[in-house]
Amino acid sequence: MLTAHTEYPRPYSDQHIGHTEKLPSFRLDLRNYSAKEYNKFVSLNTVKDWSQLSWKDVGKPYEVKSESREKRDWERQHNRTMDAHTSWTFFNKAFHEWFIKDVPKESHNAKQNFLHSLRSFKPQEVKQALGSVIQMQLWNYVHRIQDGIWDPRGKRALFEGLDVKKPKILFLGAAEGYEAMQLGAMYPGAEIVMVDYDEYCKTTRFSEFPEGYPFLGSNPQTGQSKVYYKEDFTIEYVVDDIRNLKYGKEFDIVLSVGLLEHFPDEYKHEAADWHRRFLKPGGYCVLTTPRNQIRSRVYYRIMADVMNHTYRELMTVEQMGLYMYESGFNICRHGFIKVHNGIVCQPR
Ligand SMILES: C[S@@+](CC[C@H](N)C(=O)[O-])C[C@H]1O[C@@H](n2cnc3c(N)ncnc32)[C@H](O)[C@@H]1O
Repeated sequence: MLTAHTEYPRPYSDQHIGHTEKLPSFRLDLRNYSAKEYNKFVSLNTVKDWSQLSWKDVGKPYEVKSESREKRDWERQHNRTMDAHTSWTFFNKAFHEWFIKDVPKESHNAKQNFLHSLRSFKPQEVKQALGSVIQMQLWNYVHRIQDGIWDPRGKRALFEGLDVKKPKILFLGAAEGYEAMQLGAMYPGAEIVMVDYDEYCKTTRFSEFPEGYPFLGSNPQTGQSKVYYKEDFTIEYVVDDIRNLKYGKEFDIVLSVGLLEHFPDEYKHEAADWHRRFLKPGGYCVLTTPRNQIRSRVYYRIMADVMNHTYRELMTVEQMGLYMYESGFNICRHGFIKVHNGIVCQPR
């Protein structure tokens, strides 16, 4: 069990609320949104009656077909399709390496390499060097400028309004655990259990998540905003397959981020059921998936070597909600933010 209050850097305090800044690897964002600005960050509740919605109305998700080179090489070498667990270990390693990049420095190096490659007159070298420049530019824009992956304001807008106090939160497929920590800041006193079957997520992605990253949440004493850090949260990180978990219906919130879209339709109900299995009566399932939009399709194509080791779909929030509705959930709240859809639902 990892608990609070070791001596770690706390570069930002409540005085920095409202502040945003681009650091070499990520954006820190302590900006709140006003009631008027709220709709800038989240588009909510487009569907009035889920029982009236059909697949004919909403169509099916877009399947991302480009695959990482590592996956193709592995499959050629092993003469079989890469299994899901192995795929995730490749994905987590590749993705983490991007989160820790010093982006300005590496962008500069990528540009220098490109200029150098021009002098080689080898088309393959030039193509590869140009590819690296484009990837760095895209990552800089998506993660560091737009903050589309963590998107704290958007996630807070999606996750607000849950009727819970000191919630027990279960994060299925937790990776670095970001969204559970954001929920922990919004609903103070949370007890968080993160589960991922890739040990690297516990030992590296979560462990190396920056201690100085400030999460904006609420102060239960004053009702005002308050800054939290990773070390403030009570977190247990379990390395196991979700299918092996022995918990009862004991969690107030069961969360997944980027899980549902990795299951073809015949397995979606099983994935939805994982959320229901551990939920207290009256509790909430909170899910996000990447949105189906042109710029996301472009992102997954250009970043294929980093992102595409497993089956992957991009969907709309209506498609996502319909999957959950058909799996026996009532949709309490649905919306989309910069690059994600979000659903808050409860078993019927
Ligand atoms: C797409 S990632 C989640 C997105 C995450 N926010 C990120 O930044 O990578 C899904 C995670 O679920 C984990 N996972 C998938 N299937 C699992 C299972 N059956 N049991 C436990 N973890 C699982 C993977 O190891 C992976 O870390």
